[in-house]
Amino acid sequence: MTDFKSSTLEIPDAGRIPRHIAVIMDGNGRWAKQRFLPRVAGHRRGLDAVRTVVRACVERGVDFLTLFAFSSENWRRPAEEVSFLMQLFVIALEQEIGKLHENGVRFRAIGDLSRFEPEFRRLVSEAEALTAGNQRLNLAIAVNYGGRWDVLQAVNRLLRDNPGLAGAVSERDLAPYLALHYAPEPDLFIRTGGEQRISNFVLWQLAYTELYFTDTLWPDFDAAALDRAIISYQQRERRFGRTSEQLPEDAGLASFSVADTRSAD
Ligand code: IPE
Ligand code: IPE
Ligand code: MG
Repeated sequence: MTDFKSSTLEIPDAGRIPRHIAVIMDGNGRWAKQRFLPRVAGHRRGLDAVRTVVRACVERGVDFLTLFAFSSENWRRPAEEVSFLMQLFVIALEQEIGKLHENGVRFRAIGDLSRFEPEFRRLVSEAEALTAGNQRLNLAIAVNYGGRWDVLQAVNRLLRDNPGLAGAVSERDLAPYLALHYAPEPDLFIRTGGEQRISNFVLWQLAYTELYFTDTLWPDFDAAALDRAIISYQQRERRFGRTSEQLPEDAGLASFSVADTRSAD
């Protein structure tokens, strides 16, 4: 599935419901701090928000959801917090995968998994294999993921497979090697927690993504908050380099309601 249009080579198809949403789930620590709880309590509540948002995306007909759970820079955190997060990933996978499968969700983990415990890697492989035939929502959890790591691993693997390409690599050559090769470029990027930065999340494919930042802390992010992000997306004019006047009459997304679902297509 690498035939999606690149936004810098062609104008991709855009619908009123973003096909691919990429989220930086930020603000767990502050959520906990506001309640005089340890930071890890925020991570635990963050998992509840993941459940809610996955369900809401299935209901709204979003095809791809990519969630940033642990960045390549998050190893710099206190050892106890890192180890809590690793345990939480294992528990979450064990607990959730059956339900995800029942709901037709295809699960993937993206990132450099080589740094993780074998048990976690085994659970990931099993979950990916179990859900490989599902087509409702493509859920990716980005763990030990970094946008720069992704571009570099893609270039290195591409050149290893095709040494003759050195000096002549094209976008089309690179695309199949990126971690998100199976997905169209994100239509909508959401960052919770108030910071307005990309923090080394998906870099290559955010080239023409609509960016949405909200102060809502991740554990408080729910279906209504998701709808606010989608409504903001629907009000954007996606020009992909063209002028407003050049857009087809029906190109505006604003006239559609977030309540419309896939069935109305
Ligand atoms: C995001 O929440 C979760 C991870 C990075 C794992 P944070 O833990 O960064 O929460 P804040 O930003 O400190 O509030
Ligand atoms: C980004 O959040 C990474 C994840 C949500 C997994 P951070 O909280 O680590 O980002 P910075 O370091 O404040 O930019
Ligand atoms: Mg943070």
